[in-house]
Amino acid sequence: MATSDAEAGSAPGALSDDEQPTAPYLDAVVAYAFRGTARYHVPGHKGGPGADSGVRKAIGVDALAADVPLLIHGIDVGPEPRPYERAERLAAEAYGASRTWFLTNGATQGNHALCLALAPLGARIVVQRNAHASVVDGLVLSGGVPHFVVPEYDEELGITHCVTPAALEASLRDADEPRAALITSPTYYGMAADIAALAEVAHAAGVPLVVDQSWGPHFGFHAALPATALSQGADAMLTSTHKTAGSLTQSAMLHVGPGELIDAGAIARAIRLLRSTSTSSLLLLSLDGARRQLALHGEQLLHETLEALDVARAKLATVPGVALVDGSLVGAAGVAAYDPMRIVLDVRATGRTGYEIADALRRSYDTHVELPTQATIVFIVGLGETVAALRRLAGDIDEVVKRFAQPGATAAIVGPAAALHNEMAVAPREAFLGDAEQVAVGDSVGRISCESIASYPPGIPALLPGERISSETVDYLSELAATGARLHGASDPEFKTINVLREAR
Ligand SMILES: Cc1ncc(COP(=O)(O)O)c(C=O)c1O
Repeated sequence: MATSDAEAGSAPGALSDDEQPTAPYLDAVVAYAFRGTARYHVPGHKGGPGADSGVRKAIGVDALAADVPLLIHGIDVGPEPRPYERAERLAAEAYGASRTWFLTNGATQGNHALCLALAPLGARIVVQRNAHASVVDGLVLSGGVPHFVVPEYDEELGITHCVTPAALEASLRDADEPRAALITSPTYYGMAADIAALAEVAHAAGVPLVVDQSWGPHFGFHAALPATALSQGADAMLTSTHKTAGSLTQSAMLHVGPGELIDAGAIARAIRLLRSTSTSSLLLLSLDGARRQLALHGEQLLHETLEALDVARAKLATVPGVALVDGSLVGAAGVAAYDPMRIVLDVRATGRTGYEIADALRRSYDTHVELPTQATIVFIVGLGETVAALRRLAGDIDEVVKRFAQPGATAAIVGPAAALHNEMAVAPREAFLGDAEQVAVGDSVGRISCESIASYPPGIPALLPGERISSETVDYLSELAATGARLHGASDPEFKTINVLREAR
């Protein structure tokens, strides 16, 4: 039976210098979709005619025509190099990787694959404690055991920054024969780590440095942005392309560098295990197109957005009660660089929470934000954002703050830092798949959690499966639930009960 590159993973190979303007996978799908092919294969909508009329309207007939399965001659089977293979190689070239995989279940799939490849049953991996929930979910799948490294925490703003090289060094020393270090940079708030120093520390300990750069798929494409993790010595990096770089939601890429510390074959096997046998051509072609756009026009599009952001920031700097959380933090512990492609506001001096201001923006102007927290709001901007759009955003914020601000400062939520120091009592897999019982939250202190609970967004778990539940964590999560934050992963969204590991009698 024929295998496709999408199933097998693409081996690295030489490219000619002038291929970045092409989009081989996208072009191959488009050629197949619109040449009047007789389609006697899945999907059953047959390129559109068999789809519900509402679906046809919502997705568009062209997109339905381009929705093709794997194993189509000339797309991902046929003479080498196949378009799929060439598309992944071009992405690898654009990101300075030796090998890149397209992912159709988000960066989530990348973290799952990394855990399966780097931290199999019982193996230890040093992981940043506020890693995205998908990292611990990956350890539930793999049976690996995390040894947590605690990131820097900004008490005032209630936000975590990155891991320092000193913290990583200590953690690698304390961990029992770790196989890898997995850190997150940049953070949701755009703060980036000192990757070069972290890579040095990891390599001195003989392990690869893997960077979850999900929030930085645009890094490296403009001089004003942080450099990519790979270019600073990391051995692998994950980019959630859909977040800021123009591909469809749920599409992402995983890249490995040229070093010897990562077994690319193990990653390919893990990705194959985690991938549907019917990967979406729409997601894949959007990755090919996003790579082309970044490689060719990324610098200019980023330049336009950065100029528009300057205009918005100048206006926001005049809004009473609002402070910009920005590059002025560079140099603080855990902040080596800053991604200007977002607006982060500290709204405490408005006397309102980030949730309240975000809610007012939605109700007044149909303006929707990425992430409100108690003290802050994060606005994500994209490529080629216009001055007019961002000027209007700044005006909307100005108006809302004028109308809703009240005297006094917003109280900070206490306690999130405590979660960073929870005790990991058993491996996440053991707790997640173990014999659970439901208890009232008040009775859960001292028990071992079977749940991963994160306030979402940003999806950073305050409690992980395998962790012993502390009273601080219970207080923190109860407070979050009371303020209206969504508790992702909690079996009881109101956080009145929780599943804990049944104790041996
Ligand atoms: C740091 C980090 N890693 C991974 C992910 C998962 O990304 P995706 O939504 O593409 O699966 C997220 C999502 O917010 C994230 O913030």
